[in-house]
Amino acid sequence: LKEVIMQADQTSPIGVFDSGVGGLTVARAIMDRLPGESILYFGDTARVPYGVKSVETIARYATQIAEFLIERRVKLLVVACNTMAAVAFQTIRDLSPVPVLEVIEAGARGALARTRNHRIGVIATSATVASGAYVRAIKGLGNGCTEIVSQACPLFVPLAEEGWTDHEVTRLTAREYLGPVLAQDVDTLVLGCTHYPLLKPLLREVAGPGVELVDSAEAVSERAELLLRDLKLANPGLEPPRHVFHVTDVPMRFQEVGERFLGRPLGNVQLVKW
Ligand code: DGL
Repeated sequence: LKEVIMQADQTSPIGVFDSGVGGLTVARAIMDRLPGESILYFGDTARVPYGVKSVETIARYATQIAEFLIERRVKLLVVACNTMAAVAFQTIRDLSPVPVLEVIEAGARGALARTRNHRIGVIATSATVASGAYVRAIKGLGNGCTEIVSQACPLFVPLAEEGWTDHEVTRLTAREYLGPVLAQDVDTLVLGCTHYPLLKPLLREVAGPGVELVDSAEAVSERAELLLRDLKLANPGLEPPRHVFHVTDVPMRFQEVGERFLGRPLGNVQLVKW
């Protein structure tokens, strides 16, 4: 793997990976911010969801995916999946010869930069909340006096995939989940799951104007821009970018759901037979 880094250059793609289609929200944020960069996406659609699996299994899957992307000479790895970032980030970083960014640290930094009253809410899948990763990241980066209120919102994943992003059922669900968080007077809310950026307008409405939403997808794309610039690895954009989407299964409605998450047509989709 060490030789790979020697071969990665400015025109190499950014490797973005997730347990499924959700990470396409991160790919989308990177495409919007860095339109000259090519993306090699990996979505483990055959084994999703990761949120309910053991740490060992998630780490094994994450290793397999990271190696797959590194072998294809990515210049940077972006762990788009909050669950993988929460439990397997160290494993991925230890094996990777290229820099690794992940959504949790990016989201934590984004939240700390925005909060004024030092009361931050975090919404995520059950596994991410149980890992305590956001709390550790925010406490580790902050000055220690930040209050963090975490709330698992497992129903948001299927609601977003169903396309119910502006639906009364989702609005009621959001009121139910966010009620206890908002009661704690948070002024900042971290969207700690790949699927939640799709619910942003509805969450903004439910949370009200006094609460800033931090989108981990946007936060990680900002970090990627700065890192590539610092490492002099930004693509000069002499040729149009080339995006390839690797998936381990092409499930029902994959195209429709994927394109909604990506916000544009999915071009080159390749099935990986593991
Ligand atoms: N991608 C996952 C995350 O961001 C959600 C779906 C899953 O559980 O695999 O946490």
